[in-house]
Amino acid sequence: MIDLLYKVPDHVAVIMDGNGRWAKRRGLPRVFGHKEGAKAVERTIRIANKAGVKWLSVFAFSTENWGRPEEEVNAIMSLLVEYINTKVPHLKRDNIRLRFMGRRDGLPEMILKSMDEGEKMTQDCDGMNFVVALNYSGKAEIVDAVNKIIKSGVSKIDEKDFAKYLYIPEMPEPDLLIRTSGEKRISNFMLWELAYTELYFTEVLWPDFNEEEFLKALYFYQSRERRFGKVTV
Ligand code: IPE
Ligand code: IPE
Ligand code: MG
Repeated sequence: MIDLLYKVPDHVAVIMDGNGRWAKRRGLPRVFGHKEGAKAVERTIRIANKAGVKWLSVFAFSTENWGRPEEEVNAIMSLLVEYINTKVPHLKRDNIRLRFMGRRDGLPEMILKSMDEGEKMTQDCDGMNFVVALNYSGKAEIVDAVNKIIKSGVSKIDEKDFAKYLYIPEMPEPDLLIRTSGEKRISNFMLWELAYTELYFTEVLWPDFNEEEFLKALYFYQSRERRFGKVTV
């Protein structure tokens, strides 16, 4: 199936949604959905890498998600640490560079340590980039950029230079955004970077997301004509 791909997006961004509903449908606590969701992340990394995607970014935890019950937040944080610690050697083996974006302030020390180690261990990998948006907010990213600009003393700036102050300046803007679970909204994800991204929404809940679903999104992308405000002649 993968041979049928001819126009692979350089950057695929994913809003991984529906873990809680997946668990609820099975009469399980929400945390089971997050656990199962981690497996879907694995599958997605594998297929994206195989398809030749250069940047895969996933929304793992938003600044708004702190508003969830403490028990759920703690469980997500523990799962993230466990995930990073066990998966980093696999990423390294597959030449995948792990990076994080979001605010460090407010994240527990144990997770910051794992994040730093994971980034350091994979810093020389020059294959796919795997970006985890953690404690991330699109509005906060823009505000943080503005504050960096003010601090640097720059008094006037254009769009190209502004982008240099975002969390990962070398990250290209997403070509394709996938959101699972049927919700059709951006939920404060990459507000600047998504300006011209193709949007793909699927009813599939994140823990059920698999290779086939990822390829469906890529075929959707292949069928789109990106005009960037211009006309096709
Ligand atoms: C996405 O699934 C994971 C996070 C936001 C951390 P949800 O937990 O939002 O699942 P639903 O939307 O409640 O089903
Ligand atoms: C978006 O999902 C955030 C992540 C996937 C981490 P949410 O479930 O938090 O978003 P809303 O509440 O549906 O907008
Ligand atoms: Mg949700």
